[in-house]
Amino acid sequence: MNKIIMVTGATAGFGRAIAIRFAQNGYNIIITGRRKERLDEVEKELAGFKVEVLALNFDVRNRYEVEDTISGMPDEWKKIDILVNNAGLAVGFEHIDKGNPDDWDRMVDTNVKGLLYVTRAVAPLMVARDKGYIFNIGSIAGKGVYEGGNVYCASKAAVDSLTKSMRIDLLKHNIRVTQIAPGMAETEFSLVRFKGDKERAGSVYKGFKALSAEDIANVIYFCATLPDHICINDLSITPTQQADVIFNYRK
Ligand SMILES: NC(=O)c1ccc[n+]([C@@H]2O[C@H](COP(=O)([O-])OP(=O)(O)OC[C@H]3O[C@@H](n4cnc5c(N)ncnc54)[C@H](OP(=O)(O)O)[C@@H]3O)[C@@H](O)[C@H]2O)c1
Repeated sequence: MNKIIMVTGATAGFGRAIAIRFAQNGYNIIITGRRKERLDEVEKELAGFKVEVLALNFDVRNRYEVEDTISGMPDEWKKIDILVNNAGLAVGFEHIDKGNPDDWDRMVDTNVKGLLYVTRAVAPLMVARDKGYIFNIGSIAGKGVYEGGNVYCASKAAVDSLTKSMRIDLLKHNIRVTQIAPGMAETEFSLVRFKGDKERAGSVYKGFKALSAEDIANVIYFCATLPDHICINDLSITPTQQADVIFNYRK
């Protein structure tokens, strides 16, 4: 039986690249996302690797949808070896006095509460088998702050903190927990942050060789294929032109 990986937010960016990376290596894949058409496209793409694919169309912010969908999966799919809590987003870039509370809700509900709902549904399946691996996609924005980053940074600081506590809580169940904290990567991230403004999104990566989604997928695959007794706790990954959340060098 092939190993099983579940990747939330697999319709784009890191999630799609992670799903492809593991499919290339014979994992059966559970992909999730809200955009049904995109999910169908990724499902077809993955099927080309001759692995089994289960596509689950739900919003991680909807607690009951998360619980019902995951508990309703066929039993053979419940033997999840790896969970990648990837679904997430930044919305807006305003100073705190001008921020839109709807944007704040979207970030906290997705990046923090969504990650919790999915983990709460999947972790017991791992505990029952006394094995598993959970990756949380944080950000270097969770380790430092930048102007206009306020709520996004806070949501990723929560992921940093939750990763550490999960590792302690799941310790006796032989479950590895790793935080991946990327710096700037060129995905749909900035397009979402700037609400579809392509010019503004594109300017984020000008004069700059950003990380690719595949770079992050490769790092996760590396961690996941280390011997079982090794747990990488936390990895910050930046482009060479980026030193931290504030300092970067553009040509
Ligand atoms: N790109 C960067 O520079 C960067 C840096 C550090 C950390 N990150 C983090 O990396 C993760 C992936 O981001 P990305 O760069 O790959 O962005 P992306 O290309 O915009 O992909 C985000 C994915 O998350 C899914 N998603 C968003 N909200 C969701 C929800 N409520 N329910 C279910 N799925 C949802 C999206 O799918 P649907 O829209 O179809 O639901 C999409 O598949 C995020 O947690 C982000 O915060 C990104």
